[in-house]
Amino acid sequence: MNIKEDFPLLNNRAISYLDSSATTQKPKQVIEAVQKFYEQSNANPHRGAYELSVEATEIYEETRKKVADFIHAKQAEEIIFTKNASESLNLVAYSYGLENLRQDDEIVISIMEHHSNLVPWQYVSKKTGSQLNYMYINEEFEISEKEWKEKITNKTKIVGITHSSNVLGTINPIKEIIQYAHEKGAIVVVDVSQSIPHMKIDVQDLDADFLVFSGHKMLAPLGIGVLYGKKELLEKMSPFLMGGEMIEYVYEQETTFAPLPQKFEAGTQNVGAVVGLGAAINYLQTVGYDTIQSIEQEVVSYANEQLSKLDYITLYETPNGEHHSSVISFNIQGVHPHDVASILDSEGVCIRSGNHCAQPLMRYLGIDSTCRASFYLYNTKEDVDRLVKALEKAYKMFEKYIKK
Ligand code: ALA
Repeated sequence: MNIKEDFPLLNNRAISYLDSSATTQKPKQVIEAVQKFYEQSNANPHRGAYELSVEATEIYEETRKKVADFIHAKQAEEIIFTKNASESLNLVAYSYGLENLRQDDEIVISIMEHHSNLVPWQYVSKKTGSQLNYMYINEEFEISEKEWKEKITNKTKIVGITHSSNVLGTINPIKEIIQYAHEKGAIVVVDVSQSIPHMKIDVQDLDADFLVFSGHKMLAPLGIGVLYGKKELLEKMSPFLMGGEMIEYVYEQETTFAPLPQKFEAGTQNVGAVVGLGAAINYLQTVGYDTIQSIEQEVVSYANEQLSKLDYITLYETPNGEHHSSVISFNIQGVHPHDVASILDSEGVCIRSGNHCAQPLMRYLGIDSTCRASFYLYNTKEDVDRLVKALEKAYKMFEKYIKK
């Protein structure tokens, strides 16, 4: 199976694309599905009685069912379409957090959260007088059981945790954390944006209360996100955005709201991207997570092996292979990551450099930024060889300026 052949951009550009944690490239099956929707079925769902609009409604709602099955939600109403994971998290923070937290309650998040699962909780904490506490990482870049058991207390009402860090690649034991948080009476918001492209997610098995992800990190178009929430929680929550189609009746001074899921989907939705998300799920299911994992395991362990041989490189990752995803953060000691990334770019290697929307984590690690190579199913060992060759070039260029 030559997976790369399915990705037009990777055939059109002679690059090694190592930034899939930022966004993935799109297979032709997704691009064609979106094009077909606009060429044959485009209309505004839930708005028209004519055949084309009914067809668009069916496509939209069938995809909601597909997403529900994909993450094993009990019902399609538990799936809310948003524009990205950030919007999903803001929805939970505003509609659940602001309404349910009181003075002296505690919110617990991890220090490895992306700003999207951190800044909204700061806002909720400031608005409600609740306390925002952090679970920190140990020297192996993991949150120890001792740490999460110490931080999640009887006062904790919300735990926010990423399944997999977009910087460190650490995979957190979310099932155990969710179970413990439930024993303490807290609800748990899980960000699986970085894990769902690579592994099966089952919301019932995890017993997650809320779970979010972005389509574009799992082969779907940009501009589509998902919020899963347990029905009993979503039903009690107020809408986050107000406007078209999220209502039942509107009077001059009062409004009653539509049932789930429409209550949370104000305005015209990005139906083309929803169609693309459905096609991305089909693609992932056709290839299969087993295949994806075996490709990634081979490429990522080769990358780790090769990078470990470069004595000027510092790696920021857990030594426990099975707790690590396909993200590798590193620095060339003494060289700014943006300089490294520019030199790599001149060699056709695309990596991300910077703080990766995780400034508190950077501060905790005592650094400003890192280089980050993130791998996906279309990457090969040749991409790793090209990365290593480009790093050698970068090091040689800066060697004389690096203070030993
Ligand atoms: N959250 C994305 C990343 O880590 C943008 O690069």
